[in-house]
Amino acid sequence: MKADTINTIGVIGAGQMGSGIVCVAAVSGFTVILYDLTEALALKGVTYINGVLSKDVAKGKITQDEKQRIMERVRATCRFHELADADFVVEAATENQDIKLTIFKDLDTICRPQVICATNTSSIPIGRIAAATKRPDKVIGMHFMNPVPVMKLVEIIRALPTSQETFDVTWELSLKLGKTPAEAHDYPGFISNRILMPMINEAIYSLYEGVGTRESIDTVMKLGMNHPMGPLALADLIGLDTCLAIMETLYDGFKDSKYRPCPLLRRYVESGWLGRKTGKGFYDYT
Ligand code: CAA
Repeated sequence: MKADTINTIGVIGAGQMGSGIVCVAAVSGFTVILYDLTEALALKGVTYINGVLSKDVAKGKITQDEKQRIMERVRATCRFHELADADFVVEAATENQDIKLTIFKDLDTICRPQVICATNTSSIPIGRIAAATKRPDKVIGMHFMNPVPVMKLVEIIRALPTSQETFDVTWELSLKLGKTPAEAHDYPGFISNRILMPMINEAIYSLYEGVGTRESIDTVMKLGMNHPMGPLALADLIGLDTCLAIMETLYDGFKDSKYRPCPLLRRYVESGWLGRKTGKGFYDYT
């Protein structure tokens, strides 16, 4: 299989990552099938894409006609079997292992045998997902960064059974999506979250232990290290539940106490303070 033969990309999940991936794929000229559990959820993804493209029209980056043509390439559905039309699938569902394993088992039954099934997981082992299918050589990690339309990186993660062909096609597809791929192997957190999450977790420890206020912690990292946003604001953008899930994965995977999640992070998640998506995290968004 060659990346040139990919015309239609299936995306599972209309959350912030899935919608961002659909947006980038449609802008890059692909036809996209956006699947989520209900029509309302799938349409929420379309609303997000519409919002991003409307801003691009207002900034003069694209014309109204171009926006219209991009939107016409997106088909939102809540019927899973429609993904059978896809030449390549990216799964960006909830970061829950059971949900992802079920999705991959189901995808395996409906997708044509040559179709590559990629997962945007930030923490679940790709090998474990691959093993749930009868096409483990065609399962790969394709880890986009949030916000997807803005961030240039796609981390491409090989599991042990991932074939070289699958890797090459995914790499080439990432380039066609206007992204810069980087290769990682299938160890907990891959590269991105193995480095990023302990930093965020340490920022939360600094808040927990009273080393600084949320403002001083974020200001130090923004102005002292030239990070575009402070680690606490970034945690709110990513979602505190996702941050906790990734720290748990690192802790479970390496059995090293340096990855233990900060108790304050757990308290926030248990209280439903998940960051921007719930209106409250380390900062208030209401
Ligand atoms: N969707 C689409 N576009 C967005 C956007 C969104 N959610 N948020 C911002 N943008 C666009 C804006 O429209 C703007 O576009 P133009 O340049 O065309 O005007 C551009 O991004 C810059 O936005 P702003 O001027 O509003 O704000 P900013 O300059 O502060 O940038 C930011 C915002 C891009 C989010 C920047 O703060 C940043 O890069 N933050 C760090 C993000 C990061 O680290 N992401 C990785 C998270 S880790 C992850 O995703 C993986 C994981 O597994 C956890």
